Amino acid sequence: MIHSSRQPELVDRIEIVPLTAAFCPVASALHAEGFEDQDHWSADEMIALLDVPGAFGLLAFAPGNEVENQLDTPLGFIQMQAVLDEAEINTIVVAKEARKRGVARKLLFAVFERLRETGVGRVLLEVAEDNAPAIVLYRHCGFTEIGRRKKYYRRKSGREVDALVMERDLGTCVLGWNV
Ligand SMILES: CC(C)(COP(=O)(O)OP(=O)(O)OC[C@H]1O[C@@H](n2cnc3c(N)ncnc32)[C@H](O)[C@@H]1OP(=O)(O)O)[C@@H](O)C(=O)NCCC(=O)NCCS
Repeated sequence: MIHSSRQPELVDRIEIVPLTAAFCPVASALHAEGFEDQDHWSADEMIALLDVPGAFGLLAFAPGNEVENQLDTPLGFIQMQAVLDEAEINTIVVAKEARKRGVARKLLFAVFERLRETGVGRVLLEVAEDNAPAIVLYRHCGFTEIGRRKKYYRRKSGREVDALVMERDLGTCVLGWNV
């Protein structure tokens, strides 16, 4: 059973499962936490997004321990949209307490594996140009910048921010690994 209380000491044992409608309330809470200065997705909006043909998501969690009466702990999720041989990352979020421990990297590589199995060869995304952690994550996972969308994001404060467009060829090697 997945519960929203946090047990960050369990993060080393990350497991990945499909993001189903039942997990969307948990994912919605993670999304609100991850995007405090933007409108966040409700559980119903997430369910609707997952209902689109070619859409799917993955949820990362740290399994609990029945003996010690610990519940599973949600760590983060990714939501994707595939069309023919291309896919787009709609969002990826990791719980604050679980960051910089490899959760997002694990989610991304699980997505790459699944996309390859379905014949997708290219992944695209947009990221706010001031989102340094996400840009580092994507670069370290093999994405390169291919463009910029002016004033793509509008913060709750009204500030407009450019988006970088990045792509990842799923046939390429990163750091010697064919990932
Ligand atoms: C961006 C985000 C998903 C990263 O998740 P994470 O689980 O902390 O990332 P990982 O631990 O898997 O890190 C993967 C790589 O990115 C780097 N990285 C992650 N966060 C970083 C940070 N704050 N500063 C510098 N590098 C960072 C790590 O060093 C790591 O590289 P390495 O393994 O080669 O050392 C997380 O910070 C988050 O949820 N942010 C809020 C939501 C968001 O901005 N999502 C992206 C929208 S486009």
